Amino acid sequence: MFLGLDYGTSEVKALLLDERHRVLGTAGAPLEISRPQPGHSEQAPAAWWDGTRAACAELRAAQPEAWARVRAIGLSGQMHGAVLLDGADRVLRPAILWNDTRSAAECQAMTAEMPALAMLSGCVAMPGFTAPKLRWVAAHEPEVFAQVAKVLLPKDYVRLLLTGEHLTDCSDASGTMWLDVERRDWSDDLLALTDLTRAQMPRLVEGSEPGGTLRAGAAAALGLPAGTVVAGGAGDNAASAVGMGTVRPGAGFLSLGTSGVLFVATPAYQPNPASAVHAYCHALPGQWHQMSVMLSAASCLRWARTLLNAPSEAALEAQAAALTPARRAAAPIFLPYLSGERTPHNSASVRGSLHGLSHDTDSAALAYAVIEGVSFGLADGLHALQAAGTQVRRLSLVGGGARSALWAQQLASLLGVEIVTHADSAAGGALGAARLGWLAVGGVLDEVCTAPAASHRFEPDMAEQALLHARYGRFRGLYG
Ligand code: XUL
Repeated sequence: MFLGLDYGTSEVKALLLDERHRVLGTAGAPLEISRPQPGHSEQAPAAWWDGTRAACAELRAAQPEAWARVRAIGLSGQMHGAVLLDGADRVLRPAILWNDTRSAAECQAMTAEMPALAMLSGCVAMPGFTAPKLRWVAAHEPEVFAQVAKVLLPKDYVRLLLTGEHLTDCSDASGTMWLDVERRDWSDDLLALTDLTRAQMPRLVEGSEPGGTLRAGAAAALGLPAGTVVAGGAGDNAASAVGMGTVRPGAGFLSLGTSGVLFVATPAYQPNPASAVHAYCHALPGQWHQMSVMLSAASCLRWARTLLNAPSEAALEAQAAALTPARRAAAPIFLPYLSGERTPHNSASVRGSLHGLSHDTDSAALAYAVIEGVSFGLADGLHALQAAGTQVRRLSLVGGGARSALWAQQLASLLGVEIVTHADSAAGGALGAARLGWLAVGGVLDEVCTAPAASHRFEPDMAEQALLHARYGRFRGLYG
């Protein structure tokens, strides 16, 4: 039995997986984002620990026998977040998250000082990444920066509480902008750009390697034996890839979570900074991946639900799905940049907008426009990966948005690829984390990292494609 713990932006998720690939249960605890100023996005690291205890208590109560058989734990988490600790491992300020855009000026300065940074770190400098956040802290909160003894990523802060170790894995470390991604080691030159050294970094392991064991206090809090192995784990996207069996070059998936990610496994380090593609280490030794990232994906639908006072996102999606092709063609065009954008625009300051509103625009048309605008952003991402030499014919769809048949069909038609959904796909990162725990205690890659059974396959629909391509042309024109 393996426990996967995933630290999403909106939820801590715990999942139990057995040796026959059965998910015996999941439990979640919600997380809030605090946005104290425009463009800022923060979370208190303590909330991740509270969420861990709540989700684990729920899962343990539901599955006491399975819980008693947990052999290893894997961690997965939102990437790029900066958790700043002093020499006594005290949290110095709220964690600055991946979707925080305050450090755009720092990105420009770092790029000017070291033009080679993109080829070394796997991506052009973007405010979401960890390194520019530390430069912002040095400039705006020097008293905090002076006390920074360690910088940890979100899941690795929880690992510290679980095991007492400062440690991260290569996939998550790739998102810091301090890693030499090809060599899978910290880069002294990149660290120097932020006045930091290796001493302030956690130790590196591969995602599928053991990375410490549960210490007594944490074991007692979770009702697990002290000494249980905690695997290196992975950033949430690489973890989702492990969960989806996306571990061979050319395999790929689309994740419709808070953010939208198109992820393809690659045989080697394949950077292409010109198109704002992220080229990072995979969670498995000797493997890399490429991804395009849009900052607001399923979160756009959540925004629309609040705006329209709809009972749920599913209710909005149902309204959109009922629109005729003629009404779809007349719907507004939505630019989904509610918190700036990474691939392909790399702009912290761009914001979302709606174009073509009329007296006929009702909530169904707005819901359709929002869903479609996110799909258009993913199409931009696919084109960026294609420009980097990547070809895909089939993509698995994961994340909360994968529950929407409208979205899956629309993506198949728009991208011209087969879209496959899977019964367990909403479990993404947590499932991958549990699998990494399995690998860390001797699981064999081909037996552990299987692709889950398909629940539905969506093929491109040519009539829908024609409608979408016409509207995508308008979408592309609007960015300028
Ligand atoms: C990836 C990224 C997001 C976060 C959110 O680069 O920023 O996918 O990992 O979960």
